[in-house]
Amino acid sequence: MSLESIKYKRGALEILDQLLLPIQTRYVKVQGVEDGWKVINRMQVRGAPAIAIVGCLSLAVELLKNEYTDKKDMRQEIEGKLNYLVSARPTAVNIKLAADELINLANNLCADENVTANDFKEMFIKNIENMLIKDIEDNKEIGKYGCEAILNGLEGDGLVRILTHCNTGSLATAGYGTALGVIRALHTNKRLEHVYCTETRPYNQGARLTAYELVHEKIPGTLIVDSMVSALMHARNISAVVVGADRVAANGDTANKIGTYQIAIVAKHHNVPFYVAAPLTSIDMSLTSGDRIKIEERPDREMTHIGEHRIAAPGISCWNPAFDVTPASLITGIITEKGVFRPDKLKEIVPH
Ligand code: MRU
Repeated sequence: MSLESIKYKRGALEILDQLLLPIQTRYVKVQGVEDGWKVINRMQVRGAPAIAIVGCLSLAVELLKNEYTDKKDMRQEIEGKLNYLVSARPTAVNIKLAADELINLANNLCADENVTANDFKEMFIKNIENMLIKDIEDNKEIGKYGCEAILNGLEGDGLVRILTHCNTGSLATAGYGTALGVIRALHTNKRLEHVYCTETRPYNQGARLTAYELVHEKIPGTLIVDSMVSALMHARNISAVVVGADRVAANGDTANKIGTYQIAIVAKHHNVPFYVAAPLTSIDMSLTSGDRIKIEERPDREMTHIGEHRIAAPGISCWNPAFDVTPASLITGIITEKGVFRPDKLKEIVPH
C-alpha cells in the first residue's frame, strides 16, 4: 500500500509527522486552523500540494465543530482563517490559490439567498474534501503524460534512468505524487531501469522522504549527494530529470527546492531533458516571471546541525534559501494533468 501522509475522515484530520521519518512513523492530530498553521510552518507536512490540502482540511475540521447562524460571520471567519493559513509558508502557491478559490466560494454562498447557514457549511466543507480526491486524480494524469513524454523522447524502446530532486511523492501530495508519480508510472509500465534521488541538502527531503518512499514501493533507486549530479550525468547516461514545483510563473520560470536550478544547468550541459511535473494549482499566472517569487529563507540551524550535532564551524554565518528559481529556458516541458507544455505555452492553457 502507498504511504499515506494525510488521514482524513469528516471531523478528524491526522498527518504523518515528516520530521520523524524515516526513523519513526507517527501521526499528529490536526484539530483546527491553529494546528494546521503549526504543522505547515514547522514542516511536519511539506510539499506544495500537501500543504494546501492540509491547510484547507484543518479549516474544514474547525468549521464542523462550530455552530453558525449568521452566514456573514461564517464568511468573515473563513476569509480570516484562510489568509492566516497562507502565511504559514510563503513560496508554494497552491495554498494561496486554494484559499482564493474558497474565499470566492464563500462569497457566493453567502450572497445566495437560497442557501442557509447549514447548507453553506456543508457545501463549503464538501468542496474542501474534494481536494483530496482531485489531487490524486490529477497526479495520475501527470504520471501518464510524463511517462509518455519521456518515452517519446527516447531513441528505441529501452529502459530509462531518471534523476529527481527533493520529495514529490505520496508524502508531498494527497497520494501518488507529481514527479514521483511520473517515476511510478514508468515503473508500472516496466520502463524504469533506475531512479537516482538527491539527498536534498540542507533539509534532506530526498534522503529521508523520497528514499523512504522508493524503498517502500520497491522502485529501484539510489541515493546521491547533491554535489554528485554532474558526475552522475557523465557516468550513468541519465534519460531525463523530473522535479516538482512550488510555484511556476506565467513565463514558465519555476521555483522549487534549492538545488533544482543547478541540476537544470547540468542537465542542459549534458543534453538531458529537464521536466517539471506539477498540477495547474502550482501555476501562478499573476506573476510574469520568477523574479517576483518570494523565496522563503530558513534558520541557519538547518545547515549548521544534523539533528543535535553541530557540523559547521561555530561563528560562521549562513545563507539558507529554501527554494531557487529555474529559468524557463532550461525547462524542456511542464507536465500537468492537462498534458505536457513548453514553458512559453503556459499562457495558452492556464486561465488568468
Ligand atoms: O520545503 P519543502 O519540503 O516543502 O519543499 C518541497 C519541494 O520543494 C517539492 O519539490 C515541491 O513542493 C513539490 S511537491 C509535489
